[in-house]
Amino acid sequence: PKPLLVDSFGRRVSYLRVSVTDRCDFRCRYCMAEAMTFLPRRELLSLEELALIVDRFVDRGVTKVRLTGGEPLVRRGLPELAKRIGERIGTGLNELTLTTNGTRLTEAARPLAEAGVRRINVSLDTLDRERFAYIARRDCLDEVLAGIAAARTAGLAIKINMVALKGLNDDGFVEMAEWCAAQGFDLSIIETMPLGQIDEDRTDRFLPLNLARERLAQRFTLEDSDHSTGGPSRYIHARELDIHIGFISPLTHNFCASCNRVRLTAEGKLYLCLGQADCVDLKAALRGGGPRALDAALDEAMRIKPKAHDFRIERTAVSRHMSVTGG
Ligand code: GTP
Ligand code: 5AD
Ligand code: SF4
Repeated sequence: PKPLLVDSFGRRVSYLRVSVTDRCDFRCRYCMAEAMTFLPRRELLSLEELALIVDRFVDRGVTKVRLTGGEPLVRRGLPELAKRIGERIGTGLNELTLTTNGTRLTEAARPLAEAGVRRINVSLDTLDRERFAYIARRDCLDEVLAGIAAARTAGLAIKINMVALKGLNDDGFVEMAEWCAAQGFDLSIIETMPLGQIDEDRTDRFLPLNLARERLAQRFTLEDSDHSTGGPSRYIHARELDIHIGFISPLTHNFCASCNRVRLTAEGKLYLCLGQADCVDLKAALRGGGPRALDAALDEAMRIKPKAHDFRIERTAVSRHMSVTGG
Protein backbone atom coordinates (compact mmCIF):
# COMPACT_ATOMS: atom_id res chain seq x y z
CA PRO A 1 0.00 0.00 0.00
CA LYS A 2 1.04 3.55 -0.74
CA PRO A 3 2.15 5.73 2.16
CA LEU A 4 -0.42 7.96 3.84
CA LEU A 5 -0.43 11.69 3.24
CA VAL A 6 1.27 13.43 6.14
CA ASP A 7 2.49 17.01 5.89
CA SER A 8 5.69 18.53 7.25
CA PHE A 9 3.91 19.45 10.50
CA GLY A 10 2.77 15.88 11.08
CA ARG A 11 -0.84 16.52 10.12
CA ARG A 12 -2.47 13.63 8.32
CA VAL A 13 -4.56 14.57 5.31
CA SER A 14 -7.73 12.48 5.27
CA TYR A 15 -10.26 14.93 3.81
CA LEU A 16 -10.31 15.97 0.15
CA ARG A 17 -12.55 18.79 -1.01
CA VAL A 18 -13.18 18.83 -4.75
CA SER A 19 -14.49 21.96 -6.45
CA VAL A 20 -16.02 20.52 -9.62
CA THR A 21 -16.80 23.95 -11.07
CA ASP A 22 -16.20 27.56 -10.02
CA ARG A 23 -19.50 28.59 -11.62
CA CYS A 24 -22.65 29.24 -9.69
CA ASP A 25 -26.24 30.27 -10.28
CA PHE A 26 -26.02 32.65 -7.30
CA ARG A 27 -23.83 35.65 -6.63
CA CYS A 28 -23.73 35.71 -2.83
CA ARG A 29 -22.35 39.08 -1.84
CA TYR A 30 -19.72 37.70 0.52
CA CYS A 31 -18.49 35.21 -2.08
CA MET A 32 -18.59 36.74 -5.53
CA ALA A 33 -18.83 39.95 -7.49
CA GLU A 34 -21.86 40.30 -9.77
CA ALA A 35 -19.55 40.27 -12.81
CA MET A 36 -17.32 37.22 -12.58
CA THR A 37 -14.79 35.75 -14.97
CA PHE A 38 -14.89 31.98 -14.57
CA LEU A 39 -12.28 29.39 -15.48
CA PRO A 40 -12.33 28.67 -19.21
CA ARG A 41 -14.12 25.35 -19.80
CA ARG A 42 -11.25 23.99 -21.90
CA GLU A 43 -8.99 24.14 -18.86
CA LEU A 44 -11.21 21.88 -16.76
CA LEU A 45 -10.44 18.30 -15.90
CA SER A 46 -12.91 15.81 -17.30
CA LEU A 47 -15.10 13.97 -14.81
CA GLU A 48 -13.06 10.85 -15.51
CA GLU A 49 -9.84 12.69 -14.66
CA LEU A 50 -11.38 14.04 -11.47
CA ALA A 51 -12.41 10.51 -10.53
CA LEU A 52 -8.91 9.17 -11.22
CA ILE A 53 -7.36 11.79 -8.97
CA VAL A 54 -9.88 11.13 -6.21
CA ASP A 55 -9.08 7.42 -6.49
CA ARG A 56 -5.42 8.14 -5.94
CA PHE A 57 -6.21 10.18 -2.84
CA VAL A 58 -8.30 7.36 -1.44
CA ASP A 59 -5.42 4.96 -2.12
CA ARG A 60 -3.26 7.35 -0.10
CA GLY A 61 -5.53 7.39 2.92
CA VAL A 62 -8.22 9.97 2.23
CA THR A 63 -11.41 8.75 3.91
CA LYS A 64 -13.70 11.72 3.32
CA VAL A 65 -14.47 13.43 0.02
CA ARG A 66 -16.66 16.49 -0.34
CA LEU A 67 -17.86 17.75 -3.72
CA THR A 68 -18.17 21.54 -3.79
CA GLY A 69 -17.99 24.47 -6.19
CA GLY A 70 -19.09 27.09 -7.05
CA GLU A 71 -22.32 25.19 -7.19
CA PRO A 72 -21.40 21.55 -7.79
CA LEU A 73 -24.80 20.68 -9.25
CA VAL A 74 -24.39 23.11 -12.15
CA ARG A 75 -21.64 20.88 -13.52
CA ARG A 76 -23.18 18.44 -15.99
CA GLY A 77 -22.71 14.82 -15.03
CA LEU A 78 -22.15 15.49 -11.34
CA PRO A 79 -24.42 12.60 -10.19
CA GLU A 80 -22.40 10.22 -12.40
CA LEU A 81 -19.18 11.49 -10.85
CA ALA A 82 -20.69 10.95 -7.42
CA LYS A 83 -21.62 7.42 -8.42
CA ARG A 84 -18.10 6.72 -9.65
CA ILE A 85 -16.51 8.05 -6.44
CA GLY A 86 -19.18 6.34 -4.36
CA GLU A 87 -17.87 3.00 -5.57
CA ARG A 88 -14.91 3.54 -3.25
CA ILE A 89 -17.11 3.65 -0.16
CA GLY A 90 -16.04 0.69 1.91
CA THR A 91 -12.68 0.33 0.14
CA GLY A 92 -10.96 3.25 1.82
CA LEU A 93 -13.61 5.90 1.55
CA ASN A 94 -15.91 6.38 4.54
CA GLU A 95 -17.90 9.40 3.48
CA LEU A 96 -18.83 11.06 0.21
CA THR A 97 -20.63 14.33 0.71
CA LEU A 98 -21.56 17.56 -0.99
CA THR A 99 -21.95 21.25 -0.22
CA THR A 100 -24.62 22.92 -2.33
CA ASN A 101 -26.77 26.03 -2.52
CA GLY A 102 -29.76 23.73 -2.96
CA THR A 103 -31.35 25.08 -6.15
CA ARG A 104 -30.94 21.84 -8.06
CA LEU A 105 -31.56 19.34 -5.30
CA THR A 106 -35.09 18.62 -6.43
CA GLU A 107 -33.66 16.60 -9.33
CA ALA A 108 -30.32 15.64 -7.81
CA ALA A 109 -31.21 14.41 -4.33
CA ARG A 110 -32.23 10.90 -5.31
CA PRO A 111 -29.33 10.19 -7.67
CA LEU A 112 -26.95 11.47 -5.00
CA ALA A 113 -28.47 9.22 -2.36
CA GLU A 114 -28.23 6.30 -4.78
CA ALA A 115 -24.56 7.13 -5.37
CA GLY A 116 -23.86 6.62 -1.66
CA VAL A 117 -24.15 10.16 -0.34
CA ARG A 118 -25.67 10.08 3.15
CA ARG A 119 -25.28 13.67 4.30
CA ILE A 120 -25.10 17.05 2.59
CA ASN A 121 -24.47 20.64 3.64
CA VAL A 122 -26.77 23.29 2.21
CA SER A 123 -25.94 27.00 2.29
CA LEU A 124 -28.84 29.01 3.65
CA ASP A 125 -28.13 32.36 5.25
CA THR A 126 -31.68 33.48 5.99
CA LEU A 127 -35.27 32.28 5.91
CA ASP A 128 -36.54 35.67 4.82
CA ARG A 129 -37.26 35.85 1.13
CA GLU A 130 -36.30 39.47 0.58
CA ARG A 131 -33.09 39.20 2.52
CA PHE A 132 -32.28 35.99 0.71
CA ALA A 133 -32.73 37.73 -2.62
CA TYR A 134 -30.47 40.54 -1.44
CA ILE A 135 -27.68 38.32 -0.10
CA ALA A 136 -27.63 35.80 -2.97
CA ARG A 137 -28.62 38.45 -5.54
CA ARG A 138 -31.13 35.90 -6.83
CA ASP A 139 -34.73 35.54 -5.66
CA CYS A 140 -34.55 31.78 -5.16
CA LEU A 141 -35.50 30.98 -1.57
CA ASP A 142 -38.48 28.86 -2.68
CA GLU A 143 -36.34 26.69 -4.96
CA VAL A 144 -33.82 26.18 -2.19
CA LEU A 145 -36.47 25.19 0.34
CA ALA A 146 -38.00 22.80 -2.19
CA GLY A 147 -34.56 21.32 -2.82
CA ILE A 148 -33.95 20.85 0.87
CA ALA A 149 -37.32 19.13 1.25
CA ALA A 150 -36.46 16.80 -1.64
CA ALA A 151 -33.14 15.93 -0.02
CA ARG A 152 -34.89 15.11 3.20
CA THR A 153 -37.38 12.92 1.38
CA ALA A 154 -34.48 11.13 -0.31
CA GLY A 155 -33.18 10.26 3.15
CA LEU A 156 -30.15 12.57 3.17
CA ALA A 157 -29.02 14.00 6.49
CA ILE A 158 -28.72 17.78 6.21
CA LYS A 159 -26.59 20.45 7.78
CA ILE A 160 -27.37 24.08 7.08
CA ASN A 161 -24.44 26.46 6.55
CA MET A 162 -25.19 30.03 7.55
CA VAL A 163 -22.59 32.75 6.98
CA ALA A 164 -22.96 35.35 9.74
CA LEU A 165 -23.43 38.81 8.25
CA LYS A 166 -23.73 41.88 10.41
CA GLY A 167 -26.94 43.77 9.67
CA LEU A 168 -28.17 41.11 7.23
CA ASN A 169 -28.89 37.98 9.20
CA ASP A 170 -27.44 38.48 12.68
CA ASP A 171 -30.91 38.79 14.19
CA GLY A 172 -31.80 35.40 12.71
CA PHE A 173 -29.70 32.84 14.59
CA VAL A 174 -32.45 31.83 17.01
CA GLU A 175 -35.02 31.52 14.24
CA MET A 176 -32.63 29.48 12.08
CA ALA A 177 -31.76 27.17 14.97
CA GLU A 178 -35.44 26.60 15.74
CA TRP A 179 -36.22 25.91 12.10
CA CYS A 180 -33.31 23.46 11.81
CA ALA A 181 -34.41 21.66 14.96
CA ALA A 182 -37.96 21.38 13.69
CA GLN A 183 -36.68 19.90 10.42
CA GLY A 184 -34.14 17.60 12.05
CA PHE A 185 -31.12 19.42 10.61
CA ASP A 186 -27.82 20.43 12.15
CA LEU A 187 -26.57 23.98 11.74
CA SER A 188 -23.14 25.53 11.18
CA ILE A 189 -22.58 29.24 11.53
CA ILE A 190 -19.57 30.61 9.64
CA GLU A 191 -17.43 33.73 9.86
CA THR A 192 -17.10 35.50 6.54
CA MET A 193 -13.59 35.08 5.14
CA PRO A 194 -11.68 37.57 2.99
CA LEU A 195 -11.16 35.65 -0.25
CA GLY A 196 -11.31 37.12 -3.74
CA GLN A 197 -12.51 40.51 -4.93
CA ILE A 198 -16.18 41.19 -4.19
CA ASP A 199 -18.25 44.32 -4.72
CA GLU A 200 -18.52 45.32 -1.08
CA ASP A 201 -16.56 45.88 2.08
CA ARG A 202 -16.35 42.70 4.12
CA THR A 203 -15.28 44.54 7.24
CA ASP A 204 -18.72 46.17 7.46
CA ARG A 205 -20.42 42.79 7.43
CA PHE A 206 -18.05 40.82 9.63
CA LEU A 207 -19.58 39.35 12.77
CA PRO A 208 -17.35 37.50 15.23
CA LEU A 209 -19.08 34.29 16.20
CA ASN A 210 -18.88 34.85 19.94
CA LEU A 211 -21.70 37.33 19.30
CA ALA A 212 -23.75 34.69 17.50
CA ARG A 213 -23.19 32.38 20.42
CA GLU A 214 -24.27 35.06 22.88
CA ARG A 215 -27.49 35.59 20.98
CA LEU A 216 -28.25 31.88 21.02
CA ALA A 217 -27.34 31.68 24.71
CA GLN A 218 -30.01 34.27 25.53
CA ARG A 219 -32.61 31.77 24.38
CA PHE A 220 -31.13 28.29 24.79
CA THR A 221 -28.96 26.37 27.21
CA LEU A 222 -25.75 25.78 25.30
CA GLU A 223 -23.63 22.81 26.34
CA ASP A 224 -20.13 22.01 25.10
CA SER A 225 -20.11 18.99 22.85
CA ASP A 226 -17.48 16.69 21.43
CA HIS A 227 -19.65 16.05 18.37
CA SER A 228 -17.50 16.15 15.24
CA THR A 229 -18.06 15.82 11.50
CA GLY A 230 -14.38 15.77 10.59
CA GLY A 231 -14.48 19.38 9.39
CA PRO A 232 -13.51 22.63 11.11
CA SER A 233 -16.79 23.14 13.00
CA ARG A 234 -16.70 23.21 16.78
CA TYR A 235 -20.08 22.15 18.02
CA ILE A 236 -22.24 23.06 20.94
CA HIS A 237 -25.47 21.33 21.87
CA ALA A 238 -28.60 23.44 22.35
CA ARG A 239 -30.48 21.60 25.04
CA GLU A 240 -34.03 22.85 24.44
CA LEU A 241 -33.77 22.10 20.72
CA ASP A 242 -31.64 18.98 21.00
CA ILE A 243 -29.52 19.96 17.99
CA HIS A 244 -25.85 20.53 17.35
CA ILE A 245 -24.81 23.98 16.29
CA GLY A 246 -21.35 24.28 14.77
CA PHE A 247 -19.17 27.37 14.75
CA ILE A 248 -16.57 27.88 12.04
CA SER A 249 -14.55 30.86 13.16
CA PRO A 250 -11.29 31.03 11.20
CA LEU A 251 -10.81 34.70 12.06
CA THR A 252 -11.41 34.66 15.79
CA HIS A 253 -10.47 31.07 16.58
CA ASN A 254 -7.82 29.58 14.34
CA PHE A 255 -8.15 25.80 13.86
CA CYS A 256 -5.22 25.23 11.51
CA ALA A 257 -3.26 23.04 13.96
CA SER A 258 -5.77 20.25 13.37
CA CYS A 259 -6.14 20.79 9.61
CA ASN A 260 -6.76 17.49 7.83
CA ARG A 261 -7.72 18.73 4.37
CA VAL A 262 -6.60 19.81 0.91
CA ARG A 263 -8.57 21.22 -2.02
CA LEU A 264 -8.70 20.19 -5.64
CA THR A 265 -9.98 22.70 -8.19
CA ALA A 266 -11.89 21.95 -11.38
CA GLU A 267 -8.75 22.69 -13.40
CA GLY A 268 -6.66 20.27 -11.41
CA LYS A 269 -4.75 22.52 -9.03
CA LEU A 270 -4.38 21.22 -5.53
CA TYR A 271 -4.51 24.08 -3.01
CA LEU A 272 -3.06 23.24 0.35
CA CYS A 273 -4.70 25.92 2.44
CA LEU A 274 -7.88 27.91 1.91
CA GLY A 275 -6.12 31.16 2.74
CA GLN A 276 -2.77 30.65 1.00
CA ALA A 277 -1.59 30.50 -2.60
CA ASP A 278 0.53 27.33 -2.29
CA CYS A 279 -0.52 24.65 -4.77
CA VAL A 280 0.65 21.82 -7.00
CA ASP A 281 -0.59 21.11 -10.52
CA LEU A 282 -2.19 17.68 -10.60
CA LYS A 283 -3.50 18.13 -14.14
CA ALA A 284 0.03 18.43 -15.46
CA ALA A 285 1.13 15.46 -13.36
CA LEU A 286 -1.76 13.25 -14.45
CA ARG A 287 -1.58 14.14 -18.13
CA GLY A 288 2.20 14.28 -18.33
CA GLY A 289 3.24 11.33 -16.20
CA GLY A 290 0.34 9.22 -15.01
CA PRO A 291 -0.01 7.61 -11.57
CA ARG A 292 3.66 7.84 -10.56
CA ALA A 293 3.85 11.52 -11.39
CA LEU A 294 0.60 12.01 -9.49
CA ASP A 295 2.08 10.34 -6.42
CA ALA A 296 5.19 12.49 -6.68
CA ALA A 297 3.00 15.60 -6.88
CA LEU A 298 1.08 14.52 -3.77
CA ASP A 299 4.36 14.02 -1.92
CA GLU A 300 5.46 17.49 -2.99
CA ALA A 301 2.12 18.86 -1.79
CA MET A 302 2.73 17.41 1.68
CA ARG A 303 6.11 19.12 1.79
CA ILE A 304 4.69 22.56 1.01
CA LYS A 305 1.36 22.55 2.85
CA PRO A 306 1.49 25.78 4.89
CA LYS A 307 1.22 25.79 8.64
CA ALA A 308 -1.73 28.16 8.82
CA HIS A 309 -3.81 30.75 7.05
CA ASP A 310 -3.30 34.40 7.81
CA PHE A 311 -6.82 35.75 7.48
CA ARG A 312 -7.42 39.31 8.59
CA ILE A 313 -10.78 40.77 7.81
CA GLU A 314 -9.42 44.09 6.59
CA ARG A 315 -7.44 42.65 3.71
CA THR A 316 -8.14 40.07 1.02
CA ALA A 317 -5.96 37.05 1.83
CA VAL A 318 -5.72 35.64 -1.69
CA SER A 319 -7.14 36.84 -5.00
CA ARG A 320 -8.91 33.58 -5.84
CA HIS A 321 -12.52 33.34 -4.82
CA MET A 322 -13.94 30.82 -2.37
CA SER A 323 -15.78 29.28 -5.32
CA VAL A 324 -12.52 28.23 -7.00
CA THR A 325 -11.45 26.09 -4.05
CA GLY A 326 -14.90 25.27 -2.75
CA GLY A 327 -14.57 26.67 0.72
P1 GTP B 1 -18.59 18.88 7.65
O1 GTP B 1 -18.18 17.62 6.98
O2 GTP B 1 -20.07 18.93 7.83
O3 GTP B 1 -17.83 19.17 8.90
O4 GTP B 1 -18.31 20.03 6.59
P2 GTP B 1 -17.29 21.20 6.43
O5 GTP B 1 -17.58 22.25 7.43
O6 GTP B 1 -15.91 20.65 6.36
O7 GTP B 1 -17.67 21.68 4.95
P3 GTP B 1 -18.53 22.84 4.32
O8 GTP B 1 -18.35 22.69 2.85
O9 GTP B 1 -19.90 22.82 4.83
O10 GTP B 1 -17.79 24.13 4.77
C1 GTP B 1 -18.29 25.00 5.73
C2 GTP B 1 -17.40 26.19 5.83
O11 GTP B 1 -16.18 25.80 6.43
C3 GTP B 1 -17.05 26.86 4.52
O12 GTP B 1 -17.22 28.25 4.65
C4 GTP B 1 -15.62 26.53 4.35
O13 GTP B 1 -14.94 27.53 3.65
C5 GTP B 1 -15.14 26.44 5.78
N1 GTP B 1 -13.93 25.66 5.87
C6 GTP B 1 -13.77 24.33 5.64
N2 GTP B 1 -12.49 23.97 5.83
C7 GTP B 1 -11.82 25.10 6.17
C8 GTP B 1 -10.47 25.40 6.48
O14 GTP B 1 -9.58 24.54 6.45
N3 GTP B 1 -10.15 26.67 6.77
C9 GTP B 1 -11.08 27.64 6.78
N4 GTP B 1 -10.68 28.85 7.08
N5 GTP B 1 -12.37 27.41 6.51
C10 GTP B 1 -12.74 26.16 6.20
N1 5AD C 1 -16.61 33.36 3.87
C1 5AD C 1 -17.20 32.35 4.54
N2 5AD C 1 -17.97 31.41 3.98
C2 5AD C 1 -18.16 31.50 2.68
N3 5AD C 1 -18.86 30.72 1.86
C3 5AD C 1 -18.71 31.20 0.61
N4 5AD C 1 -17.94 32.30 0.61
C4 5AD C 1 -17.58 32.50 1.88
C5 5AD C 1 -16.79 33.47 2.55
N5 5AD C 1 -16.18 34.45 1.87
C6 5AD C 1 -19.61 29.57 2.32
C7 5AD C 1 -20.87 29.25 1.59
C8 5AD C 1 -20.96 27.74 1.69
C9 5AD C 1 -19.59 27.29 2.10
C10 5AD C 1 -18.95 26.28 1.24
O1 5AD C 1 -18.79 28.44 2.13
O2 5AD C 1 -21.99 29.84 2.13
O3 5AD C 1 -21.89 27.33 2.65
FE1 SF4 D 1 -22.60 30.32 -5.15
FE2 SF4 D 1 -22.01 29.27 -2.78
FE3 SF4 D 1 -20.68 31.42 -3.66
FE4 SF4 D 1 -23.23 31.65 -2.99
S1 SF4 D 1 -21.53 31.09 -1.61
S2 SF4 D 1 -22.27 32.49 -4.85
S3 SF4 D 1 -24.08 29.73 -3.59
S4 SF4 D 1 -20.61 29.40 -4.55
